[in-house]
Amino acid sequence: MTTPQSYSDKYLHLGEKIDLDAHVVCVYKIKSTQMTMREAAAAIATEQSTGTWTEISTLKEENFLKRSGKVIEIEGNIAKIAFPEEDFSLDIGGVPQVLSIVAGNLFGLDSIEGVRLEDVIFPRSMLREFKGPKFGVEGLRKILKRPERPLVGTIVKPKIGLSPEETAAYVYEAGMGGLTNGKDDETLSNQRFCPLEERVVAIAEALDRVRSESGHIMIHAINVSTNGHQILEVAERAQELGASQIMVDVLTCGFGAVQVLAEDPSIKLPVHVHRTMHAAMTRNKDHGISMKVFAKLTRMCGGDALHIGTFGVGKMKGEATHDLVYRDMCLSPEVPYRPMMPVASGGLQPGMIPALIRIAGKDLQCQAGGGVSGHPLGVRGGAMAMSQAVEAGYLGLTAEEYAKDHRELRMALERWGSV
Ligand code: 3PG
Ligand code: 3PG
Ligand code: MG
Repeated sequence: MTTPQSYSDKYLHLGEKIDLDAHVVCVYKIKSTQMTMREAAAAIATEQSTGTWTEISTLKEENFLKRSGKVIEIEGNIAKIAFPEEDFSLDIGGVPQVLSIVAGNLFGLDSIEGVRLEDVIFPRSMLREFKGPKFGVEGLRKILKRPERPLVGTIVKPKIGLSPEETAAYVYEAGMGGLTNGKDDETLSNQRFCPLEERVVAIAEALDRVRSESGHIMIHAINVSTNGHQILEVAERAQELGASQIMVDVLTCGFGAVQVLAEDPSIKLPVHVHRTMHAAMTRNKDHGISMKVFAKLTRMCGGDALHIGTFGVGKMKGEATHDLVYRDMCLSPEVPYRPMMPVASGGLQPGMIPALIRIAGKDLQCQAGGGVSGHPLGVRGGAMAMSQAVEAGYLGLTAEEYAKDHRELRMALERWGSV
């Protein structure tokens, strides 16, 4: 026997005026064949309010109704549910607790086949409790002395197996080829073949050499993703040994990990945020959580740069229209923080970059792993081709036009073509 999903009309407050400064408003896309939209939306509000499936004797109406979720709008398959600010606990609880309300048990309700959290709109009072990026777009541009052009980077490949010296040699070549950003891949940590401390030291030396030999500035994000009790210590150690940026996998480590790295006064480095595992929640358009929500929370928590997709041109599933929404979430004044650098990464190569910049704009970090290290001339040639491609995009030229006078780009196009 299955337990019936309880819901009650007392959660329906359609058309009522609601104080947006005292509520968190969630936008859910709902798919239910067993329930009407009103019932399904009420069921979500119920689960996130009484938290149980039946009438209970401990519920005191007058206290409860002040604090319960309220369905305030239904349009087609979209329902807006407002949760009173009082339900949230930011001092102890933080984003994990927020997610547990707005994106919690509701996803598993048997009677609703699909729910997708499309957006969460926070009241100003809650937004004020977050600090946002310390560096963001402007801060990164300042460090790199690159005021206008898109940033251009690489992910050291292969993602496993290179020693610290080999990793550093890759980064040196990438820097000499003109890249502004390097980064560890999301699975690189402290494996025996590439211990974190040795890697940090070797890369810092490589970046110093790039700077003294060519005057060019490049930074490299060291992946400090780890267990909660260690992350600050690992980041501090990396910083002490010369790391120029740190990276964290936000969905495997949690938003609290981004926040502590961004807000702890001991860490003075920009935080690059990777979204590995996101597609388990973002890919299904009928169920899960929109990348927009993850981008908003990452920016609130202080991420300085975030992977948001490749606008339909890379290796991972994605569409330009959606990725533009996520880009806007990184940059827009919708939340009162510094803009966060949108990062396009995953299957990119030089022949895609001018088109990507045309779609995504210049406030962008584009980066390629295979698209740099797979170049016929090796990492330096690949880095040069990527830099040339960014220059082409910045000038509004196509890859082909710019390749006429630029051999490395031309060779990349011969190998991989262009879009
Ligand atoms: C990678 O690690 O290959 C990519 O950055 C993943 O791309 P996605 O963020 O679009 O999933
Ligand atoms: C990333 O972490 O963003 C990627 O590993 C991208 O790698 P690729 O450019 O070789 O697809
Ligand atoms: Mg990767």
